[in-house]
Formats: sequence, structure tokens, C-alpha cells
Amino acid sequence: MPELDRPPRLVRPTVVVRASFLAGERADRLAEGATDDWSRTLDDAARDFDAFVARVGAVRRRWGVPCSTFWYVSGEHYVGTLIIRHRLTPELAEAGGHIGYHVVTPWRRQGHATAMLAEGIAECRRLGLERVLLTCAAGNEPSRRVIQANGGVPDGRRRGGDRFWIAVRPQ
Ligand SMILES: CC(C)(COP(=O)(O)OP(=O)(O)OC[C@H]1O[C@@H](n2cnc3c(N)ncnc32)[C@H](O)[C@@H]1OP(=O)(O)O)[C@@H](O)C(=O)NCCC(=O)NCCS
Repeated sequence: MPELDRPPRLVRPTVVVRASFLAGERADRLAEGATDDWSRTLDDAARDFDAFVARVGAVRRRWGVPCSTFWYVSGEHYVGTLIIRHRLTPELAEAGGHIGYHVVTPWRRQGHATAMLAEGIAECRRLGLERVLLTCAAGNEPSRRVIQANGGVPDGRRRGGDRFWIAVRPQ
């Protein structure tokens, strides 16, 4: 992968990264062998990226709660996605939590997810959250490290997933 000119930042979805978003997300879906809704969504996105960005950039109701989507971006390079669920449902309190994220494969193992989550927690502060729940599959060592590097305190395992709380400290 090319060197990034500057560290990525967590931003609202933007048309600037059209090519790298579609390439990165498609490659990961292909590697996962997925022919799922998301693959169809990516085809729709390629047809009208402006509309896609407007749709995913808005606060949307998913998992039964309002959610905000952010992209981790450096210049024209799309690195990953972070989603904040503004509150928990009983289901999300078991598995899912407040925040979900991924980094596209070529940019992994460079500290991006760790830094992206730190910025995501700053966004949670702006939303007025005082502590956030993160969950990850028991064997997901990279994600566990990302969460613990951001101060995640373990709170047991439910439905095969480890739960962690991160305090959102006032600035
Ligand atoms: C989990 C994920 C976001 C990590 O992204 P990343 O940018 O590679 O993470 P970082 O570079 O910040 O690495 C975090 C830690 O995990 C370690 N790590 C990363 N990939 C690893 C791997 N494949 N095996 C072992 N350790 C790994 C890093 O060395 C680092 O450890 P350290 O802090 O002790 O040095 C990424 O692998 C991913 O998108 N996975 C698929 C989606 C997913 O699992 N999302 C999380 C759902 S809860």
C-alpha cells in the first residue's frame, strides 16, 4: 500500500474516497466469499456514490437505535469504518455494544484500528455518552487488543463474545 501523506482522521462519509472505498470494501467482501446484502449495497454505491454517501452519512435507525457512521480517511485513501450506536437495547447490551468497526485488509496491523477507536470514543463524548460497551468474538485477538489499548475493562462473556466497558472521560 502507498504511504499515507498524513495520519487518517475519523470523518463523516465523503465522496472524496470513492475509488478506495469501493476497491477496499469489494476486495474484503470477495475474500469473505460473500454475496450478501452488503455486496448489493456496494453495487448500488458504485452506481450513485453521492446518494450512497448521503444515505450512510445521515443518522440512521439500525439495530433498533439511532446510529452514526464514520469513515477513517487520509486524503483519498479509505482505511475503515466505525459505527456508533447511540444507545443500547437489551440485545446490544449482550452482544454488539455501542461501537462496531473494521479496517480494510491492506491497512491492517499498522495501528489504525486502535487510533480510529480513540477518535470514535471522542465522538461518543460529543453524543453525551459517559461509558461505552464494546463486544468482540472470543477469538478475535486483534479486536480485543484494540479495545484494551483504549482502556476497555472486561465485563464477562455472553453469547460467545467478550464484553468490555470504556469510560468516556470528560475533555
Ligand atoms: C480487528 C481489526 C479492526 C484490527 O484492525 P488493525 O488496524 O489491524 O488493528 P491495529 O493495527 O490497531 O492492531 C491492534 C492490535 O492487534 C494486533 N493484531 C492485528 N492484527 C492481528 C492478527 N491478525 N493477529 C494477531 N494480532 C493482530 C496488533 O499487533 C495490535 O497489537 P498491539 O496493540 O499489542 O501491538 C481488523 O482486523 C478488522 O477489521 N477485522 C475484521 C472486523 C472485526 O473483527 N472488527 C471488530 C469487531 S468487534
